[in-house]
Amino acid sequence: MPVSVRISLAEQFERFTEHWRPKLIAAPNGQAVKLVKALGEFPWHVHANEDEFFLVHKGRFRVEFRDHVVDLKPGECVLVERGTEHRTCADAEAEVLFFEPLGVLNTGDISDDRFTAPIDVDLGSIDQQASSKGE
Ligand code: NI
Repeated sequence: MPVSVRISLAEQFERFTEHWRPKLIAAPNGQAVKLVKALGEFPWHVHANEDEFFLVHKGRFRVEFRDHVVDLKPGECVLVERGTEHRTCADAEAEVLFFEPLGVLNTGDISDDRFTAPIDVDLGSIDQQASSKGE
């Protein structure tokens, strides 16, 4: 992970295209800072022991709870407390930054063939793989 250099979120988001596949860009103090592109509805789930904090970079992004919906636009954020059932949604593609401890499964207590993503994938390592293939 790059240290003591400028990180452009716009540039980082350009480096991948998949939806619902979080990419780690930094981990200060064991807290993961991840980027995700959202499109459509993510499954309902719970993280029993971890809070999640979402900050929208681009587009419109919703975090739905069983009793209310939080609609966010760029520059707006929401804290999802541990133990709270939620799902995330975007009617058109949205770019979102989020914060949670390292090692958290994106689908929490459920496993989903389509949505459960590899844990803590480093966006920097994707570049190394691409460059080692000569791309
Ligand atoms: Ni979650």
